[in-house]
Amino acid sequence: MCGIVGYIGNRNVAEILIEGLEKLEYRGYDSAGIAVLGNDEVKVKKYKGRLSVLRENIQNEDINGTIGIGHTRWATHGEPSDVNSHPHTNSTGSIAVVHNGIIENYMKIKQQLQEKGYKFVSETDTEVISHLIDYHFEGDLVEAVKKAVADLEGAYALGVINKDNPDRLVAVRKDSPLIVGVGEGENFIASDIPAILKHTRKVYILEDGEMAILEKDKIELMKTDGTPIKKDVYVVNWDVEAAEKGGYDHFMLKEIYEQPKAIRDTLSPRVNNENEIRLDDISITKEELDRINRVYIIACGTAYHAGLLGKILIEKYVNVPVIADVASEFRYGNTFIDENTLMIVVSQSGETADTLAALRLAKEKGARVIAVTNVVGSTISREADDVFYTWAGPEIAVASTKAYTTQLVSLALIAMQMATIKGTITEEDYSGILNGLNKLSKQVKSLLEKEDLVKEAAKEIYNAEHIFYIGRGIDYDVAREGALKLKEISYIHCEAMPAGELKHGTIALIEEGTPVIAVATQEHLYEKMVSNIKEVKARGAYVIALAKEGNEDIEETADSVIYIPEVIDELTSVLNVIPLQLLAYYVAVMRGCDVDKPRNLAKSVTVE
Ligand code: AGP
Repeated sequence: MCGIVGYIGNRNVAEILIEGLEKLEYRGYDSAGIAVLGNDEVKVKKYKGRLSVLRENIQNEDINGTIGIGHTRWATHGEPSDVNSHPHTNSTGSIAVVHNGIIENYMKIKQQLQEKGYKFVSETDTEVISHLIDYHFEGDLVEAVKKAVADLEGAYALGVINKDNPDRLVAVRKDSPLIVGVGEGENFIASDIPAILKHTRKVYILEDGEMAILEKDKIELMKTDGTPIKKDVYVVNWDVEAAEKGGYDHFMLKEIYEQPKAIRDTLSPRVNNENEIRLDDISITKEELDRINRVYIIACGTAYHAGLLGKILIEKYVNVPVIADVASEFRYGNTFIDENTLMIVVSQSGETADTLAALRLAKEKGARVIAVTNVVGSTISREADDVFYTWAGPEIAVASTKAYTTQLVSLALIAMQMATIKGTITEEDYSGILNGLNKLSKQVKSLLEKEDLVKEAAKEIYNAEHIFYIGRGIDYDVAREGALKLKEISYIHCEAMPAGELKHGTIALIEEGTPVIAVATQEHLYEKMVSNIKEVKARGAYVIALAKEGNEDIEETADSVIYIPEVIDELTSVLNVIPLQLLAYYVAVMRGCDVDKPRNLAKSVTVE
């Protein structure tokens, strides 16, 4: 997920572009650039790093022009660097392109263009677009862009300028958001409303397969096949801050609601049309896998909680012992690492110091390291042998949400791939998990519609001083994540316990009204969980239970129940965590906490 902007008018464009990009940095912030058309040339300035790097580098430069495009990046193809930053141009520099999205058939197009003598300078998928437009260019930019997008497969929001068409800016949308801002004697494009709200509240929202030709006094809208279209102007009534959060009160809530898309974006590139898992990300062979006699899954915080599902799935379907540990303990503990060890490190930021140290320790001892991370070009992604990216997009809120669910999906895919290579999984189990994965995005969407139910539950507990989370097996692991979410944003003391362990001491803390969140969605452990719920109810606990649809009998025991749709036990955590995230969110809001920037915490812990 990147941010793009564009402007055509009478004002000097550079400042307008950078201000717009500043409002889009939540979409990506690892590199940025602008292209300005003036004095009969396209001037491109682009740098690795936050927008401030770009601003510093051009502040003493006179980049004059009244047409331009800009980009702030969230790397997918090619790690953050000056040359991989956008805009990308054709070899003569007469055409410049900014792009948000992923071109799936870029390698094929690149080879075809290279055979025709085109030279590529970056590792990006986007650069093929500027060369492809050049290839189709016969003087009319609109025609060339139309022909180029006809060759593209994937997702793209594009902004294109060309020195030979100095009176127009061309924009195209397919599977990536793009709006057109309607001004007085000037017009804008942007990935999202915050970028242009300072200048106009009148926008056209482009749909897939639509393009806009912007001139300073005119906007032409058409399908990418050239068919003219009419659109209503949408008048925005949000303030800028609200707009950055997409109208949500907090980035955390926005990111909770982005999970259906994040899960789909993480899953779809790895499941082919024959409904088979195909991981190009991990090149481990059967010989290498057969040599592996121990797997470590190492991470911190929420990422560690996701790793716990990896342990269960790899042990069950790959039949290799797995040690899942928090990195800060692992790196100073007794480790059994050698060349027959596989380590999987999990990290949203890819920069967490303890996890990075664990990776380096493993590599020193000859182990193979796979990284599951959300940031292209992060240190962990650069030092691992294989990298599996969670395509969750930038996660701004300190409390990790969409990274967790995409990590669960990623670890399930990795476990399935390893089991398939080793031939240790039955066709039935394989298709059971894959069918379960394919349903998750929609099921998460349906669970988000139960927000009001969760809000009601939050009203019952937000004044509590102590809250307990209980579960068994995989449910205990997601209960730990639920407890962490509530702790870190509401500052309530929470503890997650294996439900069967309560009676060995902790149940002494349960008294009249003590809130207990009970996760009871493992079918083979359900009856056991119901008895554990009865145990705490007998001591006066107020129980909020999570159960699968069809287990309505639990209402006889629990005070309130949130049901999750039918899903195989192994994947329940992806669904269970949704009401747990919302519960933590609403309790924190009701306590007036700074949800996105909780005290004492940082989004990426780069110190030991
Ligand atoms: C989770 O909400 C926290 N922000 C924190 O526990 C986090 O999961 C941990 O610091 C690991 O971060 P990473 O995934 O970026 O390595």
